[in-house]
Amino acid sequence: MFKKEELRIAVIGRNDPCWCGSEKKWKQCHAPERSPQDASNELSNRYRRQFGILIKTPEQIEGIRAACHLAARILEATCVMARQGVTTQELNDYAHKLHVDAGAIPAPLHYGHPPFPKSICTSINEVICHGIPDDRPLDEGDIINIDVTCILKGYYGDCSRMVIIGKTDPMRKKVVDVCYECLRRSIEILRPGVLISEIGEVIETYATAHGCSVVFDFVAHGTGVRFHEPPQIPHCTNEIAIPLAPGMTFTIEPMINAGAPQAVIDPNDQWTARTIDGKPSAQWEHTLLITPSGHEILTLLASEPIDASSH
Ligand code: MF3
Ligand code: CO
Ligand code: CO
Repeated sequence: MFKKEELRIAVIGRNDPCWCGSEKKWKQCHAPERSPQDASNELSNRYRRQFGILIKTPEQIEGIRAACHLAARILEATCVMARQGVTTQELNDYAHKLHVDAGAIPAPLHYGHPPFPKSICTSINEVICHGIPDDRPLDEGDIINIDVTCILKGYYGDCSRMVIIGKTDPMRKKVVDVCYECLRRSIEILRPGVLISEIGEVIETYATAHGCSVVFDFVAHGTGVRFHEPPQIPHCTNEIAIPLAPGMTFTIEPMINAGAPQAVIDPNDQWTARTIDGKPSAQWEHTLLITPSGHEILTLLASEPIDASSH
């Protein structure tokens, strides 16, 4: 019989010294074996509690993979349509129809505050991101980012590419190429244990070595179950020491400027983000999955290998 004040609930942690006096940690001594399932549940719980990050289940990954594949196909088809004389409204309407025909919803439509008015983003020349489709026809020499995010059976896929209309000038061509290489290099390093900060480090190192700057006002993001999930992933140097883990799904979407890195939001539409100096900006985006051995680019089509200068 204990007196009340002597009652204790003793819970031994896996890193505590073992009760047997071996001076080893409990987990290395008398702790019961953990199944792989227990270990992965523990990881998911810890990432959700500590960082708000959703580690996806195999079922969720299947759904996200299908949404990403559809987003990539819609993006590719819409990019083929982008030619001199075509308006961004026409690109929007075409992409919108491809969503509907596939039983999907374009995620940008009515998203955010104020609600985004269109189904895709089209960002031309000095527009960094979140350009709103309108009646401006594409012109020879324009560089345009087309950004498609679709919702298929509740799962999200998010990707964007640049299209060069005809022949363009060297400064525009350069941001397009430097930005593509930033995305390619940052994807190449992805595997479990790599820190989120290493992504921005790779991007900033390459961009600045080539005389370009990295936009810091917009970040990449977890995605898959919601449009924008934790974590935020800056494309510039940062101190986010979160290790990547299998089952994480997120985007990388560097915005690279030929001049200054600052963005100015259009006060009228409250979406369109432009460079502060009017110099060109480029963006490329993929949705990625971290696998036990590395990564998978979920928005990459089989016909479209991501290697140097293949775009
Ligand atoms: N697709 C963009 C991204 O990469 C987000 C667009 S938000 C919108 O995160 F409302 F402008 F569509
Ligand atoms: Co995105
Ligand atoms: Co996007």
